[in-house]
Amino acid sequence: MKIVLIGASGTLGKAVAHELSVRHQIISVGRKSGDFHADLRDIGSLQSLFEKIGTVDAFVSAAGSVHFGPWNELTPEKVDIGLRDKLMGQVNMVLAGQKYLCDGGSFTLTSGILSEDPIRFGAAASLVNGALESFVRAAAIELSRGQRINIVSPTVLQESMPSFGPYFRGYKPVSAADVALNYSKSVEGRQTGHIYKVW
Ligand SMILES: NC(=O)c1ccc[n+]([C@@H]2O[C@H](COP(=O)([O-])OP(=O)(O)OC[C@H]3O[C@@H](n4cnc5c(N)ncnc54)[C@H](OP(=O)(O)O)[C@@H]3O)[C@@H](O)[C@H]2O)c1
Repeated sequence: MKIVLIGASGTLGKAVAHELSVRHQIISVGRKSGDFHADLRDIGSLQSLFEKIGTVDAFVSAAGSVHFGPWNELTPEKVDIGLRDKLMGQVNMVLAGQKYLCDGGSFTLTSGILSEDPIRFGAAASLVNGALESFVRAAAIELSRGQRINIVSPTVLQESMPSFGPYFRGYKPVSAADVALNYSKSVEGRQTGHIYKVW
């Protein structure tokens, strides 16, 4: 399969690329890293890129930033970081990508455990992850031509514990490689509207 992977250079994305590249052609995308450059926040940059790449079998996103910080310092501007980047960025990938996705092809997005199991400092992340999961359930019944859509919701990664560990006390981390298996399930399986919870 020909697979566009946005965020392939990241902590999670590297493991997803490793898992999928054994069997498939990976086209890696980032703002600065990867074979091609585009910014999820800018749907125009995605449209131009997808036009250049042409038809593909899958679009995968392992990207998206959100703000973490104290509740009493939360502002609309800080919430908006995640709304524009992780939430609308991945929605943009689907809206722009559907024209270039083959019949029966798949979208795979990334949310996270905070949609269901919140932490201190994580309200903006919980908001975004919950919205993404709702979007995927709804898009699954609306996409045409047998196109599928799923989302992977990981807990904190082992590889991210040096930086995120203090936020996630009591959470059992998982390896990026184990999380990556779920992207294979989504891309190479037949499910749609599914939330792969990895925790
Ligand atoms: N790490 C964890 O423990 C964990 C746990 C649960 C969920 N997640 C979720 O998994 C996803 C990846 O996390 P990560 O820790 O692997 O992140 P990361 O190491 O910071 O990597 C982010 C990747 O996405 C690309 N990227 C970032 N913003 C982009 C944008 N606006 N447009 C296009 N590409 C962009 C980056 O490349 P460029 O810099 O070249 O753009 C990089 O390849 C995020 O949605 C995160 O919330 C992570």
